[in-house]
Amino acid sequence: MEASNSLLVPLLGLVFSTFFPSTHASYTPFLTPSFSFNYNSPGQPLSIPITTQCETIHVTWKRKTEIGPDPTAPYLLHIYTSAFVFPFIIAAGSGPTFDWAVPFPPGTQYQICMFDKNGNAGGCQAIYTVIPSTSPGPPTCQNVTVPASSLDVEAAAAHGPLSQFGWVDQCTQVSVTPKNGTPPYTLTVAPALHPPYNITSNTMRSMKWTVSQSWGSPFFISVVDSLGNSWATGPLHSGGNGPTACLALDDVSDETWVGPAVSVGAGVVGLVIGLLVGIASTYIFMKYRRRAALRGAFRGAFNRLSSASPLLGDVPLAPSNSDTSQYRPVSSSDVPENVHVQDGSLRDAIRGWSS
Ligand SMILES: *[C@@H]1O[C@H](CO)[C@@H](O)[C@H](O)[C@H]1NC(C)=O
Ligand SMILES: *[C@@H]1O[C@H](CO)[C@@H](O)[C@H](O)[C@H]1NC(C)=O
Repeated sequence: MEASNSLLVPLLGLVFSTFFPSTHASYTPFLTPSFSFNYNSPGQPLSIPITTQCETIHVTWKRKTEIGPDPTAPYLLHIYTSAFVFPFIIAAGSGPTFDWAVPFPPGTQYQICMFDKNGNAGGCQAIYTVIPSTSPGPPTCQNVTVPASSLDVEAAAAHGPLSQFGWVDQCTQVSVTPKNGTPPYTLTVAPALHPPYNITSNTMRSMKWTVSQSWGSPFFISVVDSLGNSWATGPLHSGGNGPTACLALDDVSDETWVGPAVSVGAGVVGLVIGLLVGIASTYIFMKYRRRAALRGAFRGAFNRLSSASPLLGDVPLAPSNSDTSQYRPVSSSDVPENVHVQDGSLRDAIRGWSS
């Protein structure tokens, strides 16, 4: 951003916040996906995020309901890992499938995101874990090529330097500052199971991202310069101690904001309706009980007749030799003095109360 613009932006921001007081602080929208991909094993009803070392994953992608720009071949996998401080960028051809053997050592966590030729996103998959190969002998597959030079980047969170597997509180900022390389730089935030965010800068100044992921969400971040030198870290997680306003994003608008006066009014209306419904249902309930009481008298007579063949009593619910003392039925002496369970007394009580 040029120096002349640096004053204009805060000014514009001030004007905007005066006219739209409930509009929240700016946030970075995620890249609207153009397609989606997965590499679920066939026959597994859900993806199990484990890969053995050198297992070949079968990546398939497709444009379904995605509304981003039309995807264009060739496609790229961007792979973030817990074991390397740069992303791996693997050419995946023109698709719509691609097989790749995962070479990372056991214990590595990795996450794949996809992009098309023009940088349109295909989203990011879950974080997978590499486990030792199950076939005998050392695993054999082509190892990854480590880039000749990587980018030097200083990363910070609100309270100091960012650690590789750190937790950054939600709605606080992560800032990355390139120390070498050639502008423009792209900061990419790649949350698991979520489209990525890109922030681009033409200078070596810090790029900041507000952690707009809720508590516990994992994500990787990377910085790539114009010559393809790169840096990455993660998996990071969103922490729970920050504010939450940024998580509302654009959902909290003037239309959906319920002011206190409206909600108090709604509360009173709700109370009145509740009271009316309560009175009505009590009346109906009482009427029903009076009829049920009459029916109960008949049923009582019927039960006395049918108890001559107690079907349920024949089912052995417990071995007969077990110590039944702990299952002793409540005897009449256990019933407190002031509870009358004599036949008809409840009926009489209800009849007396409702009439
Ligand atoms: C690739 O190299 C790393 C060390 O750089 C090693 O730990 C890993 O096992 C290798 N992968 C394969 C498939 O040989
Ligand atoms: C987003 O960033 C990645 C690098 O991390 C880049 O390959 C891609 O082209 C970028 N896409 C857009 C739309 O800027």
